[in-house]
Amino acid sequence: MNNSALALVADVIGKVDRTHPADAVLRTEMRSRSGISREDGRAISQAVFAYYRWYGWLDRKETVTQQIARAIELSETFKKNPGSVVEKELRHAIPNWAASYVDVSPAWLRALQTEPALWLRARPGQGRALAAKLGDCRPAGGEVLADALRYEGSKDLFRTPEFHAGEFELQDITSQVVGLLCDPQPGETWWDACAGEGGKMLHLCDLMRNKGLVWASDRAAWRLEQLKRRAARARLFNYRAVAWKSTAKLPTKTKFDGILVDAPCSGVGTWQRNPHARWTMRPEDVRELAEVQKELLRSAVEALKPSARLIYSVCTLTRMETSEVAEGITKQFPDLKPLALPNLFEADRAVGNQLWLWPQAAGGNGMFIAAWQK
Ligand SMILES: C[S@@+](CC[C@H](N)C(=O)[O-])C[C@H]1O[C@@H](n2cnc3c(N)ncnc32)[C@H](O)[C@@H]1O
Repeated sequence: MNNSALALVADVIGKVDRTHPADAVLRTEMRSRSGISREDGRAISQAVFAYYRWYGWLDRKETVTQQIARAIELSETFKKNPGSVVEKELRHAIPNWAASYVDVSPAWLRALQTEPALWLRARPGQGRALAAKLGDCRPAGGEVLADALRYEGSKDLFRTPEFHAGEFELQDITSQVVGLLCDPQPGETWWDACAGEGGKMLHLCDLMRNKGLVWASDRAAWRLEQLKRRAARARLFNYRAVAWKSTAKLPTKTKFDGILVDAPCSGVGTWQRNPHARWTMRPEDVRELAEVQKELLRSAVEALKPSARLIYSVCTLTRMETSEVAEGITKQFPDLKPLALPNLFEADRAVGNQLWLWPQAAGGNGMFIAAWQK
């Protein structure tokens, strides 16, 4: 890596903190400089991510540039020979506090040190056709996941005509599983209570074949603006976006056939993709987020029609934000029946109405999903 590229990596690292994630800083810094070749851009981005992925192994007494060089070296050695990191050393992959919040296994830690896969979601029934157009795609396998494609090529997907025509979205495989498990039917009325920029909402609208209605709410109005742009690109119109925060009264008197609470969480499930987040998340955030999740679920319960389904998903793996929240809801609402979910990845753990998707088995972000029926 040349000196100016290395300086840019160090600049990015200097600007990353709790509120400025590595990928966002990287995008801003790259945009603000002209003349970076695609090849350099890729190397810069890999170096930033290698730094956070191998941060637990670095010697903070060295200069940042020395640490970056060491991280790149560790990353390359591990890629060539995953056995280069022995089991005892794997604990460096996560902060110390995490060991008492998550069921840590060597397989999970090893998965955290590998580079994540890139997943696309084709429109319903279009997986094969899209793979033929884009090339370098590998289907997730199985009938149910036929529209989930792992992209292994080097195209800038955001510049492809297929992306602009709304033929696919970039969406992690386990997020796609959430939409599939919601299984909304055309003509139904759903509420996506934390719709954000619409990743899962677009999937729900699509599965409903543009028929029926999805209420899409989020406390961040700016996220809903992005959701609207994405829905327009996909030509999906069966939704209504409304800003709503869980502390306010319900956004509508409508009762729903199904509600998805894809709640804000500590994101431990994304630590393979977002390694910087391992070092900025704090245990007190986990506790606070668990409370927000309970509040969101309690609001959602009020809005269910009889026989309606409630789906709770979080891309985290801490017990406090997952099983403990789900068990609390089951206890608090005896008229909610825990609903067992089909396990689309045989290797993952299904316990009653809870499904745990781990990166090492699913090949994507860690995700926890629980479901009930009223
Ligand atoms: C996991 S993200 C949602 C991702 C989205 N469902 C998707 O698939 O792209 C959680 C969302 O919850 C929103 N949020 C956080 N706290 C909230 C609250 N108290 N009430 C409502 N929304 C909240 C955040 O703005 C964020 O967009």
